Amino acid sequence: MTLSQAKSRHDDLAAELRHHDYLYYVEGKPSIGDFEYDKLYTELQDLEAKYPTLVTPDSPTQRVGGAPSKEFTRIEHLVPMLSLEKIRASDKPTSSEEPNVELRKRAQDENTIKELRDFDNTIRKELSRHHVRSEKIDYVLEPKVDGVSISVHYRNGKLVLGATRGDGRSGDDITTNIRTIRAIPLELKTKNPPALLEVRGEAFISILDFEKMNNKLEESGQEPFPNARNATAGTLKQLDPKLVGSRPIRAVFYALGAIEGINFETHSESLEYLKQCGLPTQSHWWVCHGIDDAIRRYQSDVVCHYNEAKDLRTKVPYEVDGIVLKVNKTAYWRLIPDKARAPGYAIVHKPIPWITPAETVLNSITVQVGRTGVLTPVAELEPVFVQGSTISRATLHNEDEITRKDIRIHDTVIIRKAGMVIPEVVEVVKSKRPADSQPFHLETYVKGKCPACGQPIVRDPQFVAWKCENVAGCPAQSVRRVQFMAQRAALDIEGLGGGVAESLVETGFIQDALDLFSLKKEKLAELNLGTKEEPRVLGLKNATKIVDALEKSKSLSLERWLFALGIPRVGVINAQEVAKLHNNFEDLAKSHILKDKLLIKQKELQAKLVNPSSPTERLRLKNETMLQIEVNEDRRETIKAEIKKLKEVESLDKNDRHELHKRLNEEIREIEKRLRDAGDALEVTFSSKKDVPVLDVSHGIEPEVAQSILNFFDSKIGEKIQHRLNKLGINPLGGKARPNIVMENPLFAGKRFVLTGTLQSMTREEAGAAIRERGGEVGGSISKNTN
Ligand code: IVH
Repeated sequence: MTLSQAKSRHDDLAAELRHHDYLYYVEGKPSIGDFEYDKLYTELQDLEAKYPTLVTPDSPTQRVGGAPSKEFTRIEHLVPMLSLEKIRASDKPTSSEEPNVELRKRAQDENTIKELRDFDNTIRKELSRHHVRSEKIDYVLEPKVDGVSISVHYRNGKLVLGATRGDGRSGDDITTNIRTIRAIPLELKTKNPPALLEVRGEAFISILDFEKMNNKLEESGQEPFPNARNATAGTLKQLDPKLVGSRPIRAVFYALGAIEGINFETHSESLEYLKQCGLPTQSHWWVCHGIDDAIRRYQSDVVCHYNEAKDLRTKVPYEVDGIVLKVNKTAYWRLIPDKARAPGYAIVHKPIPWITPAETVLNSITVQVGRTGVLTPVAELEPVFVQGSTISRATLHNEDEITRKDIRIHDTVIIRKAGMVIPEVVEVVKSKRPADSQPFHLETYVKGKCPACGQPIVRDPQFVAWKCENVAGCPAQSVRRVQFMAQRAALDIEGLGGGVAESLVETGFIQDALDLFSLKKEKLAELNLGTKEEPRVLGLKNATKIVDALEKSKSLSLERWLFALGIPRVGVINAQEVAKLHNNFEDLAKSHILKDKLLIKQKELQAKLVNPSSPTERLRLKNETMLQIEVNEDRRETIKAEIKKLKEVESLDKNDRHELHKRLNEEIREIEKRLRDAGDALEVTFSSKKDVPVLDVSHGIEPEVAQSILNFFDSKIGEKIQHRLNKLGINPLGGKARPNIVMENPLFAGKRFVLTGTLQSMTREEAGAAIRERGGEVGGSISKNTN
């Protein structure tokens, strides 16, 4: 490839990637999947590695550039970033005494509407002072986005600055972080960009992405974020742009700051313009003629707040915490006096059903036992209407959370739905606390015993939770394991959800998940889902369905089975990563790959420790201080061992340390090579061409995950499960034996194979099907076309 050919390909790739970012983040209509996107991206990266002169600052690869900084620079906003004046919902005493919730809400809503009319009256009065007579003011009604405010400057069409709101007058320069957000174009999509366009909006993590991200964090043993807003704010404040780039942050813009070389007559025009420039804007906003029109909108299809299914908040990917009403004509803005920290031309209000602080009484706390034995306290509430539905329970997460919020039985509490779905106790109304109330202690509350099986509980020092360690004998854990195993991403046994799993364990039909496989459908049909007094049997039809699904599940892949076992830290993704490098459970239980993972971690730690330039003494002193304050026995032992090691290292002379460090590094390289070979073997087996996705072994599986899997197979329970699977004839195959779960693209497109002899892990028919599935052909005899 000549340089000019490379340049042309580079331009095409960059444009294509920008276009896909636009389709995904701005239009919300992606036309390719992640895999294809990554392929284009990798090609661009490779091209740039080969021809470094092609790298331009606005290349899609340069979003994550620059090293972590020490701190952010403070910058003054050209135009202050104001807030919005709120309409407060007044809780008229008469209305809150109305027993009918629906009527009470409507009465409160009446009040909001009155306030909206007052706002309109004030605007018209102010305008008339400037001799502007208008019967009907045009307004724009739009959602208030609950994200983190940002400001982005485009000079001559190029992104030059990104800043936080700060105190409204000055904020932090977070340009390098803002550049990592793929929803924000680095260049405006317009032929004549204005000299300056400062756009204002919110950065956010979508409700879906937030869940995925938290799952991933938890899977890798990290602390999840309490909510999406918090995660966004925390991420934008990170000094390492690489980390920011790895988080699913998006953005949406709804206002202008400083502008030069452009002007807009109306707010709606400016929104249209932002959209034309390729900036993400809101999908739902309306121009209304006069306040009556705005109120009609507000009450009807805009918000639909009495009909949760149609609610505006279900239509956008971010959280919405209000409705903003803005005077549309920008010339009017400066005629209307500002409020203390907010402009006069706009107002925000929350529809009553969104805010009604659902206040209720916490009647009691029940303690649920999860799949891994973790005890979760749950608030049993006096039923209350929250954001569209009646709630009677809310999770309290764990004991620390209860202590932090000081939640006690019989407290009056405020409830909300996190992400509109999961009910949560926000806070306690302390003024209404009974005089004799006592702080809640989980261990005392359950008398030190698991509420399901009565065995003693222990506090897991690693997490903040209390646990029941009676893995095999605790019925609550068994039920959860069955439910977990039945879920779609695991064995997908329809009809085994909630109640059925419970009845199965309660009635003694099964003791654990694998017992399911020995159930006869005639017997299962008799399962009583009701009570003794009012029996309700499962029936033969349902039983047959379950048994058939179980039978089918026997031939599912190792990846699905590995996930189904519910081993800590082994979520869907990790199960995939691990399964593709192993043949079957037996292979996994004595996996050298997993052992190497641990070994590498250990060597890396050692190497770090003996690093000739590492400050071991400081580390030792820190540990010694920690010993004085740490109380936990387990932790003490680890720290002591660490100190001992540090002392040994300190006593080595510089040359010895050099030698040791070198040797350890060599050993690490060797293990890395072994790991790579283990993964590369897959590639070599099926293709020697480079365009096959390369398995990145050394980063695929975290050492903590490897440890957890090895622990599981080493444990009595793990051994028992393996033994039982064997007896049941269940031997799920992993990626080494089933390459199809590794690669979804037509890996063998245009290739011809011939199969002879005996294959180790599958029949020839199976191998043939697997090749065809991947776009290859299987022939009967060898010819020059055979690959
Ligand atoms: S207009 C001068 N529109 O909410 C008016 N703000 O509580 C400036 N916000 O500081 C903002 N959604 O950060 C506007 N559709 C929207 C908004 C919005 C969210 C933020 C904004 C503002 C804060 C006020």
